Amino acid sequence: MNDEQRVSEALAAIEAAADADALEAIRIAALGKQGWISAALKSLGAMPPEERAKAAPAIQAMRSQVADAIAAKKAALDAAELEARLASETLDLTLPAPEAPKGSVHPVSQVMDELAEIFADMGFAVATGPEIEDDWHNFTALNMPESHPARAMHDTFYFKPSPLQGRGLGEGDVSTSPDSPRPPAPSPEGEGERRMLLRTHTSPVQVRTMMSQGAPVRIIAPGRVYRSDSDATHTPMFHQVEGLVIDRGIHLGHLKWTLETFLKAFFEREDIVLRLRPSYFPFTEPSVEVDVGFALENGKRVLGGNGDEPGHGWMELLGSGMVNRRVIEMSGLDPHEWQGFAFGVGVDRLAMLKYGMDDLRAFFDGDVRWLRHYGFSPFDQPTLSGGIGAQISAGARA
Ligand code: DAH
Repeated sequence: MNDEQRVSEALAAIEAAADADALEAIRIAALGKQGWISAALKSLGAMPPEERAKAAPAIQAMRSQVADAIAAKKAALDAAELEARLASETLDLTLPAPEAPKGSVHPVSQVMDELAEIFADMGFAVATGPEIEDDWHNFTALNMPESHPARAMHDTFYFKPSPLQGRGLGEGDVSTSPDSPRPPAPSPEGEGERRMLLRTHTSPVQVRTMMSQGAPVRIIAPGRVYRSDSDATHTPMFHQVEGLVIDRGIHLGHLKWTLETFLKAFFEREDIVLRLRPSYFPFTEPSVEVDVGFALENGKRVLGGNGDEPGHGWMELLGSGMVNRRVIEMSGLDPHEWQGFAFGVGVDRLAMLKYGMDDLRAFFDGDVRWLRHYGFSPFDQPTLSGGIGAQISAGARA
Protein backbone atom coordinates (compact mmCIF):
# COMPACT_ATOMS: atom_id res chain seq x y z
CA MET A 1 0.00 0.00 0.00
CA ASN A 2 1.50 3.31 -0.98
CA ASP A 3 1.13 6.50 1.03
CA GLU A 4 -1.66 7.82 -1.12
CA GLN A 5 -3.75 4.71 -0.52
CA ARG A 6 -3.00 4.85 3.19
CA VAL A 7 -4.15 8.45 3.34
CA SER A 8 -7.38 7.83 1.54
CA GLU A 9 -8.04 4.79 3.73
CA ALA A 10 -7.38 6.87 6.85
CA LEU A 11 -9.65 9.66 5.62
CA ALA A 12 -12.42 7.15 4.97
CA ALA A 13 -11.97 5.67 8.45
CA ILE A 14 -12.06 9.13 10.02
CA GLU A 15 -15.20 9.94 8.16
CA ALA A 16 -16.79 6.69 9.35
CA ALA A 17 -15.69 6.98 13.00
CA ALA A 18 -18.79 6.62 15.20
CA ASP A 19 -17.42 8.23 18.37
CA ALA A 20 -14.45 9.91 20.04
CA ASP A 21 -12.86 6.57 21.00
CA ALA A 22 -12.85 5.26 17.44
CA LEU A 23 -11.41 8.55 16.22
CA GLU A 24 -8.67 8.47 18.86
CA ALA A 25 -7.68 4.94 17.74
CA ILE A 26 -7.23 6.21 14.18
CA ARG A 27 -5.19 9.21 15.40
CA ILE A 28 -2.86 6.97 17.41
CA ALA A 29 -2.38 4.59 14.46
CA ALA A 30 -1.39 7.47 12.16
CA LEU A 31 0.07 10.27 14.28
CA GLY A 32 0.93 8.50 17.55
CA LYS A 33 4.55 7.75 18.48
CA GLN A 34 4.44 4.45 16.63
CA GLY A 35 2.06 5.77 13.93
CA TRP A 36 2.83 5.40 10.24
CA ILE A 37 2.89 9.13 9.52
CA SER A 38 5.23 9.66 12.46
CA ALA A 39 7.44 6.89 11.06
CA ALA A 40 7.48 8.59 7.67
CA LEU A 41 8.45 11.89 9.30
CA LYS A 42 11.21 10.14 11.22
CA SER A 43 12.52 8.55 8.00
CA LEU A 44 13.22 12.09 6.66
CA GLY A 45 16.06 12.43 9.19
CA ALA A 46 17.95 9.52 7.66
CA MET A 47 17.77 10.89 4.08
CA PRO A 48 20.46 12.83 2.33
CA PRO A 49 19.53 16.53 2.05
CA GLU A 50 18.42 16.66 -1.61
CA GLU A 51 16.24 13.63 -1.24
CA ARG A 52 14.79 14.99 2.02
CA ALA A 53 13.91 18.31 0.33
CA LYS A 54 11.99 16.39 -2.28
CA ALA A 55 10.17 14.01 0.05
CA ALA A 56 9.37 16.37 2.91
CA PRO A 57 6.53 18.45 1.39
CA ALA A 58 4.54 15.33 0.49
CA ILE A 59 4.95 13.83 3.97
CA GLN A 60 4.10 17.15 5.67
CA ALA A 61 1.04 17.52 3.44
CA MET A 62 -0.07 13.97 4.33
CA ARG A 63 0.34 14.77 8.01
CA SER A 64 -1.75 17.98 7.87
CA GLN A 65 -4.40 16.33 5.76
CA VAL A 66 -4.95 13.56 8.26
CA ALA A 67 -4.61 15.82 11.33
CA ASP A 68 -7.08 18.36 9.89
CA ALA A 69 -9.56 15.62 9.02
CA ILE A 70 -9.33 14.28 12.60
CA ALA A 71 -9.87 17.76 14.08
CA ALA A 72 -12.85 18.43 11.85
CA LYS A 73 -14.41 15.06 12.70
CA LYS A 74 -13.82 15.66 16.41
CA ALA A 75 -15.64 18.99 16.23
CA ALA A 76 -18.51 17.34 14.39
CA LEU A 77 -18.75 14.52 16.95
CA ASP A 78 -18.70 17.04 19.87
CA ALA A 79 -21.42 19.10 18.27
CA ALA A 80 -23.56 16.02 17.70
CA GLU A 81 -23.08 14.93 21.30
CA LEU A 82 -24.12 18.34 22.66
CA GLU A 83 -27.10 18.32 20.36
CA ALA A 84 -28.20 14.94 21.70
CA ARG A 85 -27.76 16.07 25.32
CA LEU A 86 -29.79 19.21 24.81
CA ALA A 87 -32.52 17.17 23.21
CA SER A 88 -32.69 14.67 26.08
CA GLU A 89 -32.18 17.00 29.09
CA THR A 90 -35.29 19.11 29.17
CA LEU A 91 -35.94 21.57 32.03
CA ASP A 92 -39.56 21.69 33.16
CA LEU A 93 -40.05 25.21 34.43
CA THR A 94 -43.59 24.43 35.52
CA LEU A 95 -42.44 22.00 38.25
CA PRO A 96 -42.69 23.34 41.84
CA ALA A 97 -39.33 24.32 43.33
CA PRO A 98 -38.03 21.91 45.97
CA GLU A 99 -38.80 23.28 49.44
CA ALA A 100 -35.81 24.58 51.38
CA PRO A 101 -35.60 23.24 54.93
CA LYS A 102 -36.92 25.80 57.38
CA GLY A 103 -37.26 25.94 61.12
CA SER A 104 -40.46 26.16 63.10
CA VAL A 105 -41.54 28.22 66.08
CA HIS A 106 -41.29 26.30 69.37
CA PRO A 107 -44.65 25.92 71.15
CA VAL A 108 -43.30 27.87 74.14
CA SER A 109 -42.40 30.82 71.91
CA GLN A 110 -45.71 30.48 70.12
CA VAL A 111 -47.67 30.61 73.38
CA MET A 112 -45.62 33.57 74.63
CA ASP A 113 -46.44 35.40 71.38
CA GLU A 114 -50.09 34.55 71.82
CA LEU A 115 -50.02 35.85 75.42
CA ALA A 116 -48.34 39.08 74.39
CA GLU A 117 -50.93 39.59 71.67
CA ILE A 118 -53.94 38.92 73.92
CA PHE A 119 -52.69 41.10 76.76
CA ALA A 120 -51.56 43.89 74.44
CA ASP A 121 -55.21 44.18 73.46
CA MET A 122 -56.02 44.84 77.12
CA GLY A 123 -53.29 47.46 77.41
CA PHE A 124 -50.55 45.32 78.96
CA ALA A 125 -46.88 45.82 78.10
CA VAL A 126 -44.30 43.03 78.21
CA ALA A 127 -41.71 43.37 81.00
CA THR A 128 -38.60 41.30 81.63
CA GLY A 129 -36.21 40.72 84.50
CA PRO A 130 -32.93 38.87 85.04
CA GLU A 131 -32.87 35.10 85.31
CA ILE A 132 -29.92 35.40 87.68
CA GLU A 133 -31.71 37.12 90.51
CA ASP A 134 -30.88 38.05 94.06
CA ASP A 135 -32.53 36.61 97.10
CA TRP A 136 -34.13 39.93 97.99
CA HIS A 137 -36.10 40.35 94.75
CA ASN A 138 -36.93 36.65 94.45
CA PHE A 139 -38.09 36.18 98.05
CA THR A 140 -37.84 38.96 100.61
CA ALA A 141 -39.53 41.73 98.62
CA LEU A 142 -42.29 39.26 97.81
CA ASN A 143 -43.01 38.97 101.52
CA MET A 144 -40.94 35.85 102.05
CA PRO A 145 -38.34 36.84 104.65
CA GLU A 146 -35.41 34.52 105.24
CA SER A 147 -37.23 32.38 107.77
CA HIS A 148 -40.35 32.00 105.62
CA PRO A 149 -41.48 28.37 105.18
CA ALA A 150 -42.68 29.02 101.59
CA ARG A 151 -39.04 29.37 100.55
CA ALA A 152 -38.53 25.70 101.22
CA MET A 153 -41.09 24.82 98.53
CA HIS A 154 -39.08 26.45 95.79
CA ASP A 155 -36.09 24.04 95.53
CA THR A 156 -33.85 26.96 94.70
CA PHE A 157 -30.57 26.82 92.76
CA TYR A 158 -28.20 29.13 94.64
CA PHE A 159 -24.87 30.49 93.42
CA LYS A 160 -21.77 30.23 95.53
CA PRO A 161 -21.25 33.58 97.22
CA SER A 162 -18.97 35.74 95.07
CA PRO A 163 -15.76 37.00 96.73
CA LEU A 164 -16.67 40.39 95.25
CA GLN A 165 -19.98 40.51 97.07
CA GLY A 166 -20.15 42.83 100.01
CA ARG A 167 -17.73 45.17 98.24
CA GLY A 168 -20.58 46.42 96.09
CA LEU A 169 -19.24 44.70 92.97
CA GLY A 170 -20.93 41.38 93.25
CA GLU A 171 -24.22 42.38 91.68
CA GLY A 172 -22.97 43.74 88.40
CA ASP A 173 -20.73 40.74 88.24
CA VAL A 174 -23.70 38.42 87.92
CA SER A 175 -25.80 40.81 85.88
CA THR A 176 -28.73 42.10 87.82
CA SER A 177 -30.65 44.37 85.53
CA PRO A 178 -29.04 47.80 85.41
CA ASP A 179 -32.37 49.45 84.63
CA SER A 180 -33.86 48.62 87.97
CA PRO A 181 -31.80 50.15 90.72
CA ARG A 182 -32.17 49.18 94.35
CA PRO A 183 -35.07 50.94 96.01
CA PRO A 184 -34.04 54.04 97.90
CA ALA A 185 -35.83 53.23 101.14
CA PRO A 186 -36.55 49.51 101.30
CA SER A 187 -33.46 47.56 100.35
CA PRO A 188 -31.73 44.27 100.95
CA GLU A 189 -30.19 44.45 104.34
CA GLY A 190 -28.57 41.21 105.32
CA GLU A 191 -25.75 39.46 103.52
CA GLY A 192 -28.21 36.63 102.81
CA GLU A 193 -30.49 38.89 100.80
CA ARG A 194 -27.72 39.71 98.38
CA ARG A 195 -27.24 36.02 97.71
CA MET A 196 -27.59 35.24 93.99
CA LEU A 197 -29.83 32.50 92.67
CA LEU A 198 -31.64 31.39 89.54
CA ARG A 199 -35.07 32.94 89.87
CA THR A 200 -37.64 30.37 90.95
CA HIS A 201 -40.58 32.30 89.50
CA THR A 202 -41.33 35.38 87.42
CA SER A 203 -42.79 37.21 90.44
CA PRO A 204 -39.60 39.25 91.12
CA VAL A 205 -40.39 41.11 87.87
CA GLN A 206 -43.38 42.56 89.75
CA VAL A 207 -41.04 44.17 92.25
CA ARG A 208 -38.55 45.31 89.63
CA THR A 209 -41.26 46.88 87.49
CA MET A 210 -42.85 48.79 90.37
CA MET A 211 -39.43 49.99 91.48
CA SER A 212 -38.25 51.08 88.05
CA GLN A 213 -41.41 52.62 86.60
CA GLY A 214 -43.62 53.43 89.56
CA ALA A 215 -47.42 53.25 89.28
CA PRO A 216 -49.67 52.65 87.43
CA VAL A 217 -48.50 49.30 86.07
CA ARG A 218 -50.05 46.94 83.57
CA ILE A 219 -47.59 44.27 82.49
CA ILE A 220 -47.10 40.64 81.74
CA ALA A 221 -43.65 39.13 82.26
CA PRO A 222 -43.02 35.87 80.42
CA GLY A 223 -39.74 34.07 80.91
CA ARG A 224 -37.59 31.18 82.10
CA VAL A 225 -37.59 30.08 85.73
CA TYR A 226 -35.59 27.39 87.52
CA ARG A 227 -36.20 24.82 90.23
CA SER A 228 -34.32 21.72 91.23
CA ASP A 229 -37.05 19.31 90.19
CA SER A 230 -37.43 16.76 87.39
CA ASP A 231 -40.10 14.29 86.26
CA ALA A 232 -42.73 14.02 83.49
CA THR A 233 -44.38 17.28 84.53
CA HIS A 234 -41.36 19.11 86.02
CA THR A 235 -38.09 20.19 84.43
CA PRO A 236 -35.29 22.14 86.15
CA MET A 237 -35.96 25.01 83.73
CA PHE A 238 -39.48 25.92 82.72
CA HIS A 239 -41.51 28.97 81.75
CA GLN A 240 -43.96 31.18 83.55
CA VAL A 241 -45.84 34.30 82.74
CA GLU A 242 -46.50 36.82 85.45
CA GLY A 243 -49.23 39.41 85.29
CA LEU A 244 -49.37 42.61 87.33
CA VAL A 245 -51.84 45.47 87.44
CA ILE A 246 -51.30 48.35 89.86
CA ASP A 247 -53.61 51.33 89.83
CA ARG A 248 -56.11 53.15 92.03
CA GLY A 249 -59.18 51.23 93.10
CA ILE A 250 -58.29 47.87 91.58
CA HIS A 251 -60.29 44.99 93.06
CA LEU A 252 -60.88 41.27 92.69
CA GLY A 253 -63.54 41.87 90.02
CA HIS A 254 -60.88 43.32 87.71
CA LEU A 255 -58.77 40.24 88.32
CA LYS A 256 -61.59 37.86 87.48
CA TRP A 257 -62.63 39.73 84.34
CA THR A 258 -59.05 39.95 83.11
CA LEU A 259 -58.34 36.25 83.61
CA GLU A 260 -61.64 35.24 82.07
CA THR A 261 -61.09 37.43 79.02
CA PHE A 262 -57.54 36.13 78.68
CA LEU A 263 -58.45 32.44 79.00
CA LYS A 264 -61.35 32.69 76.54
CA ALA A 265 -59.12 34.35 73.97
CA PHE A 266 -56.23 31.96 74.61
CA PHE A 267 -58.22 28.73 74.43
CA GLU A 268 -60.41 30.21 71.70
CA ARG A 269 -63.59 29.11 73.49
CA GLU A 270 -66.39 31.28 74.80
CA ASP A 271 -67.55 28.65 77.28
CA ILE A 272 -64.52 28.78 79.61
CA VAL A 273 -65.79 28.91 83.21
CA LEU A 274 -63.54 30.01 86.07
CA ARG A 275 -63.71 29.06 89.73
CA LEU A 276 -61.80 31.19 92.21
CA ARG A 277 -60.74 29.15 95.22
CA PRO A 278 -59.26 30.74 98.37
CA SER A 279 -55.58 29.92 98.65
CA TYR A 280 -52.34 31.26 100.07
CA PHE A 281 -49.37 33.01 98.50
CA PRO A 282 -47.11 35.22 100.59
CA PHE A 283 -47.19 37.99 97.96
CA THR A 284 -50.97 38.23 97.60
CA GLU A 285 -53.75 38.89 100.10
CA PRO A 286 -56.32 37.57 99.56
CA SER A 287 -54.93 34.82 97.35
CA VAL A 288 -56.93 32.74 94.95
CA GLU A 289 -56.24 29.61 93.00
CA VAL A 290 -58.01 29.73 89.65
CA ASP A 291 -59.58 26.54 88.32
CA VAL A 292 -61.16 26.06 84.90
CA GLY A 293 -64.04 23.73 84.19
CA PHE A 294 -63.52 20.83 81.80
CA ALA A 295 -65.61 18.07 80.30
CA LEU A 296 -64.49 14.50 79.76
CA GLU A 297 -64.76 13.61 76.07
CA ASN A 298 -63.58 10.12 75.12
CA GLY A 299 -61.56 10.00 78.32
CA LYS A 300 -59.80 13.28 77.48
CA ARG A 301 -60.18 16.52 79.39
CA VAL A 302 -61.58 19.25 77.17
CA LEU A 303 -61.64 22.72 78.66
CA GLY A 304 -64.99 24.48 78.79
CA GLY A 305 -68.24 24.33 80.69
CA ASN A 306 -69.13 24.34 84.35
CA GLY A 307 -66.95 21.89 86.23
CA ASP A 308 -69.75 21.09 88.68
CA GLU A 309 -71.95 19.42 86.10
CA PRO A 310 -72.07 15.64 85.85
CA GLY A 311 -69.18 14.32 83.77
CA HIS A 312 -67.26 17.56 84.30
CA GLY A 313 -64.50 18.61 86.65
CA TRP A 314 -62.24 21.48 87.71
CA MET A 315 -58.60 21.80 86.78
CA GLU A 316 -56.20 23.97 88.73
CA LEU A 317 -54.65 26.43 86.29
CA LEU A 318 -53.01 29.40 87.94
CA GLY A 319 -52.27 31.32 91.12
CA SER A 320 -53.30 34.89 91.70
CA GLY A 321 -54.60 37.41 94.15
CA MET A 322 -54.57 41.02 95.25
CA VAL A 323 -50.97 42.18 95.61
CA ASN A 324 -50.01 42.10 99.29
CA ARG A 325 -49.64 45.65 100.61
CA ARG A 326 -46.26 44.70 102.04
CA VAL A 327 -45.01 43.91 98.50
CA ILE A 328 -46.31 47.26 97.24
CA GLU A 329 -44.58 48.96 100.13
CA MET A 330 -41.28 47.14 99.68
CA SER A 331 -41.40 48.07 95.99
CA GLY A 332 -41.42 51.74 96.98
CA LEU A 333 -45.12 52.57 96.44
CA ASP A 334 -47.73 53.76 98.92
CA PRO A 335 -50.28 50.94 99.40
CA HIS A 336 -52.91 53.45 100.53
CA GLU A 337 -52.86 54.97 97.10
CA TRP A 338 -52.02 51.98 94.92
CA GLN A 339 -53.62 48.56 94.82
CA GLY A 340 -53.56 45.80 92.30
CA PHE A 341 -53.71 42.18 91.36
CA ALA A 342 -51.15 39.69 90.15
CA PHE A 343 -51.18 36.24 88.68
CA GLY A 344 -48.68 33.61 87.66
CA VAL A 345 -49.11 30.64 85.35
CA GLY A 346 -46.88 28.04 83.67
CA VAL A 347 -46.40 28.80 79.97
CA ASP A 348 -45.43 25.20 79.25
CA ARG A 349 -48.57 24.02 80.98
CA LEU A 350 -50.70 26.40 78.92
CA ALA A 351 -49.05 25.06 75.76
CA MET A 352 -49.62 21.44 76.79
CA LEU A 353 -53.28 22.09 77.55
CA LYS A 354 -53.94 23.98 74.35
CA TYR A 355 -51.91 21.91 71.90
CA GLY A 356 -52.17 18.50 73.52
CA MET A 357 -48.64 17.42 74.48
CA ASP A 358 -48.36 15.23 77.54
CA ASP A 359 -44.65 15.05 78.42
CA LEU A 360 -43.06 18.32 79.46
CA ARG A 361 -39.52 16.93 79.04
CA ALA A 362 -40.02 16.68 75.26
CA PHE A 363 -40.23 20.49 75.19
CA PHE A 364 -36.54 20.74 75.97
CA ASP A 365 -35.09 17.63 74.27
CA GLY A 366 -34.55 19.46 70.97
CA ASP A 367 -35.73 16.43 68.95
CA VAL A 368 -36.37 17.81 65.46
CA ARG A 369 -39.12 15.27 64.83
CA TRP A 370 -41.03 16.66 67.83
CA LEU A 371 -40.30 20.22 66.77
CA ARG A 372 -41.52 19.52 63.25
CA HIS A 373 -44.68 18.00 64.61
CA TYR A 374 -45.52 20.56 67.29
CA GLY A 375 -43.76 23.63 65.88
CA PHE A 376 -45.54 26.55 64.27
CA SER A 377 -44.98 28.27 60.98
CA PRO A 378 -42.82 31.37 61.47
CA PHE A 379 -45.00 33.20 58.96
CA ASP A 380 -48.17 32.86 61.02
CA GLN A 381 -47.95 35.52 63.69
CA PRO A 382 -50.76 35.14 66.20
CA THR A 383 -53.19 38.03 66.08
CA LEU A 384 -56.53 38.56 67.75
CA SER A 385 -58.23 39.31 64.46
CA GLY A 386 -56.55 36.55 62.47
CA GLY A 387 -56.87 33.82 65.10
CA ILE A 388 -54.59 33.43 68.09
CA GLY A 389 -53.77 29.76 67.57
CA ALA A 390 -51.67 30.08 64.44
CA GLN A 391 -51.10 27.33 61.95
CA ILE A 392 -48.94 24.45 63.01
CA SER A 393 -45.88 24.29 60.72
CA ALA A 394 -45.81 22.52 57.38
CA GLY A 395 -44.16 19.47 58.95
CA ALA A 396 -47.06 18.97 61.29
CA ARG A 397 -49.61 19.36 58.56
CA ALA A 398 -47.92 16.79 56.35
N1 DAH B 1 -45.00 32.82 91.81
C1 DAH B 1 -45.93 31.72 92.01
C2 DAH B 1 -45.24 30.40 91.76
O1 DAH B 1 -44.28 30.36 91.05
C3 DAH B 1 -47.11 31.84 91.10
C4 DAH B 1 -47.97 33.02 91.47
C5 DAH B 1 -49.01 32.87 92.34
C6 DAH B 1 -47.72 34.25 90.94
C7 DAH B 1 -49.83 33.91 92.71
C8 DAH B 1 -48.50 35.34 91.28
C9 DAH B 1 -49.56 35.16 92.17
O2 DAH B 1 -48.31 36.55 90.81
O3 DAH B 1 -50.34 36.19 92.50
O4 DAH B 1 -45.67 29.39 92.25
